[in-house]
Amino acid sequence: MDDLRDKYLGLIAGAADEAGLEDLRVQAVGKKGEISLKMRELGKMTPEERQTAGPALNALKDEINSALAAKKAGLADAALDERLRTEWLDVTLPGRGRGQGTLHPIAQVTEEVTAIFAELGFSVAEGPRIDTDWYNFDALNIPGHHPARAEMDTFYMHRAEGDNRPPHVLRTHTSPVQIRSMEKMGAPMRIICPGGVYRADYDQTHTPMFHQVEGLAIDKDLSMANLKWVLEEFVKAFFEVDGGVELRFRASHFPFTEPSAEVDIRCSWEDGTVKVGEGDDWLEILGSGMVHPKVLQAGGIDPTEWQGFAFGMGIDRIAMLKYGIPDLRAFFDSDLRWLRHYGFSALDVPTLHGGLSR
Ligand code: DAH
Repeated sequence: MDDLRDKYLGLIAGAADEAGLEDLRVQAVGKKGEISLKMRELGKMTPEERQTAGPALNALKDEINSALAAKKAGLADAALDERLRTEWLDVTLPGRGRGQGTLHPIAQVTEEVTAIFAELGFSVAEGPRIDTDWYNFDALNIPGHHPARAEMDTFYMHRAEGDNRPPHVLRTHTSPVQIRSMEKMGAPMRIICPGGVYRADYDQTHTPMFHQVEGLAIDKDLSMANLKWVLEEFVKAFFEVDGGVELRFRASHFPFTEPSAEVDIRCSWEDGTVKVGEGDDWLEILGSGMVHPKVLQAGGIDPTEWQGFAFGMGIDRIAMLKYGIPDLRAFFDSDLRWLRHYGFSALDVPTLHGGLSR
């Protein structure tokens, strides 16, 4: 028994890690361990022999178990010490600066527009950027031969040879979302649809992709008066000009509205920059009107029962106006210096009460 004790206490003291220690435990006091086997031999002994050998074996087993436990704790401590030695870090070092991104003015203005119209009871609807020419044109009362269709500088999707289905287009305006929303929600409804649109056009104020926000309200007894009030409220809130911004409604023509009006805001030009709300110039910001009965019909809504007003506004354009950005093309250049200068903090969520932009 002394030999066993010396052997295992020696081995335990020399164990290099927890796995080695576990092997030793199995070897000594495991089910088939050397000491367990010895204990089993107790049955073959005489009662006298057993009286001395039994307690001695139990004591040896206890001694080995506590040696194992003590060594295990020692190994864990040593491992922790080693980790602490190698994984140290100097908390007194200065922090490393992280570049913070900004919200693009288009994202910011979309949020601002959404916040204002949400307050007026409008919800946000979306539609696909690739749409059929039926949604983009025909359903909006722009038939195949209509000049508006040619004027839109439409991008047509490629069709495989022999595929004679009518073409898909990159939507040229957000107006097709009017039809999709009518189909989905029916009347009454109040929605805005912000999103990207496409036209083959490129200069200081035109890019092949730009953004619009469409508005559509359908109800009983809606008139141009409701349209005018909603737009006035919007412009007043959006441009954040004390005393409001004067609007001018000009009679116009769109195939999807009757009557139609274009809306200008009062502004001044000084040294190539615009100021909104003052001066003797006018700047067009949107098209609008009462929804044409054929358009309601295309969306599955009975025009003898319901009326609607609609408008379509360029998001990029009102962003340029509000934040004094002279060139539309810069919106899409991804120039970090420009983005840092004109970008907005992602944490300043625009609300009517908290302020739209800070
Ligand atoms: N869809 C027109 C465009 O892209 C804008 C527009 C005009 C939208 C009048 C409307 C509207 O909803 O009523 O130029």
